[in-house]
Amino acid sequence: MSEVLILGIDTSCDDTSASVVKDGRAILSNVVSSQTELHRVFGGVVPEIASRRHVEMMIPVVTEALKGASVGLDDLSAVAVCYGPGLMGSLLVGCSFAKAISYVKDLPLIGINHIEGHIFSAFLLPEPPEFPFLSLVVSGGHTLLVRVNGPGDYRPLGGTRDDAAGEAYDKVAKLLGLGYPGGPIIDRLAREGDPSAVEFPRGLIHEGLDFSFSGLKTAVRNYIHSLRTLDERAKRDICASFQEAVVDVLVKKTFRALVEEGLERLTLSGGVAANRALRERIQVEAGPLGVKVYLPPPYLCTDNGAMIAAAGFPYYRMGRFSDLGLTAVASLRLSQNPF
Ligand code: KG4
Ligand code: ZN
Repeated sequence: MSEVLILGIDTSCDDTSASVVKDGRAILSNVVSSQTELHRVFGGVVPEIASRRHVEMMIPVVTEALKGASVGLDDLSAVAVCYGPGLMGSLLVGCSFAKAISYVKDLPLIGINHIEGHIFSAFLLPEPPEFPFLSLVVSGGHTLLVRVNGPGDYRPLGGTRDDAAGEAYDKVAKLLGLGYPGGPIIDRLAREGDPSAVEFPRGLIHEGLDFSFSGLKTAVRNYIHSLRTLDERAKRDICASFQEAVVDVLVKKTFRALVEEGLERLTLSGGVAANRALRERIQVEAGPLGVKVYLPPPYLCTDNGAMIAAAGFPYYRMGRFSDLGLTAVASLRLSQNPF
């Protein structure tokens, strides 16, 4: 088979991203236009502003991705697009644009679940995992442990019952007046704090594979209110202690799932997988257990078009395509595959 060039598009939340990936593995270009500055003053993503910005950025971002890969639309084999889960208005922009390209250029269209995209970021590593493996997807919208048997064959093992891990990071950062998005800021401040300064609760740590982070967030709020002054030192200690609680739970449940499922390979993805403490702990604990960890670099953990293109590749090989009826589904579940 000659080389397969897939254009991957993701507009699920507040980043407009497009990428050209060769044979599901080699990133020829990866353009991400961040809207962080637009939303910062509101302390979180404003859906209406996000979708309007996607409309403005879609053509420039795709043009830059094609240029960066030194290809034109006529060189593409297919277009893969994230159609959910995410913000409805944001998803619709990417979906409509991908369908337009598919229609005009008569290119196969491949609809990809955003979580499936995160899972496939591991296939952009020099050495990708073999199936089956366990995937921990931790982002602003999801905290999910999934058994991945093959492309399109996913078994969710556990998920969050309330807040996603990234959401907890963002909310705690807001409580501390640190700014948005909170994850990277807390990650940085936690390095200078004492992780044992405050004993925050580890939700559901002894029970199954589901997660709960809302109690932790409330405990942080109550602790802050109990302080007479919230100085820089206290903030760093709270960041370190909060992060320790999140990482403890994520790591514990991940290794429990690996044992229960008898799996030896683990991939991490989603924005929170860029977290330094989580990456370190997972690797330290995996070593003695003989678990091989596949850790995409931070820029592939956060939202990007390359992971969508990588996820589209196996469907392209199988000839499983979407039709122009594909549309955005805000609460798309991982098991709802359209093909
Ligand atoms: O995957 P992503 O880019 O978008 C979603 O699909 O949600 O993840 C964004 C989330 C945000 O909540 C952000 O605070 C968090 O990932 N995040 C981090 C780090 N970098 C991003 N959380 C902890 N540590 C980080 N270094
Ligand atoms: Zn994401």
